[in-house]
Amino acid sequence: MLRVLFIGDVIAPRAADFLAKSLWSVRRRLEVDFVIVNGENASFLGGISDEAAEALLSGGADCITGGNHTLQTRSIYRKLEEGGAVLRPLNYPDEAPGCGYSILPIGSARILVISALGTVYMEPGLADPLPLIERVLAREEGRYDLSLVDLHAEATGEKLTVAHALDGRISAVIGTHTHVQTADEQILPCGTAYLSDVGMCGPSGGILGVAPHVMIKRSRTHIRIPYAEATGPIVANAAIVDLDETSGKALAIRRISFSEDEL
Ligand SMILES: [Fe+2]
Repeated sequence: MLRVLFIGDVIAPRAADFLAKSLWSVRRRLEVDFVIVNGENASFLGGISDEAAEALLSGGADCITGGNHTLQTRSIYRKLEEGGAVLRPLNYPDEAPGCGYSILPIGSARILVISALGTVYMEPGLADPLPLIERVLAREEGRYDLSLVDLHAEATGEKLTVAHALDGRISAVIGTHTHVQTADEQILPCGTAYLSDVGMCGPSGGILGVAPHVMIKRSRTHIRIPYAEATGPIVANAAIVDLDETSGKALAIRRISFSEDEL
């Protein structure tokens, strides 16, 4: 059995710092073999900088997945081009910097991690994630033992559809993007672990990590007032997925959260 810890969208430098300082001890405490962090908003709702990615990787993350904001910060492009641990979503054209998947070591096995965007209520014009993911699975067949998709999408129906279509062919489908953790963790009939949304790693007490007064003013005036971070303690929403490296199937999935108050 190999254990993956998947941490939801890191939404501010303060949250990235928290993870960089605490991940190694969390790994030991939870006996985790591999850590995936969705880092698309580590530069506060606007992509991820090269420095933030480096801090997360040296702080205990094995792979950083992306989302609709990943390509907004140009300093990450070099790291994306290097391939390996930092991913942008698979749906972008080949001309975009970086790659949408990677095969990385996990214990004595190999895990294929795919970062993909949904298309419902998301950026128009992007390719559907399901055929793209299926193409990667076919292309890399035999080169990995375990596989996981970070499906960065708004609509739970789209996430469930992709997960059921891939059931038994992929170890786990974990949703990100909404910043709110859902309570529908499950193992699908053919052995794929699923969670509609893992949540976020960011300041509590706000609206998806943003200070409430900003969002209320934006709502009342329709003026694009700059976002300000919520001021509560950082909470990391995450999922622990136990995987069988022989069959490639999931054994268990559970939701967890940990905060800077506890550590
Ligand atoms: Fe997003």
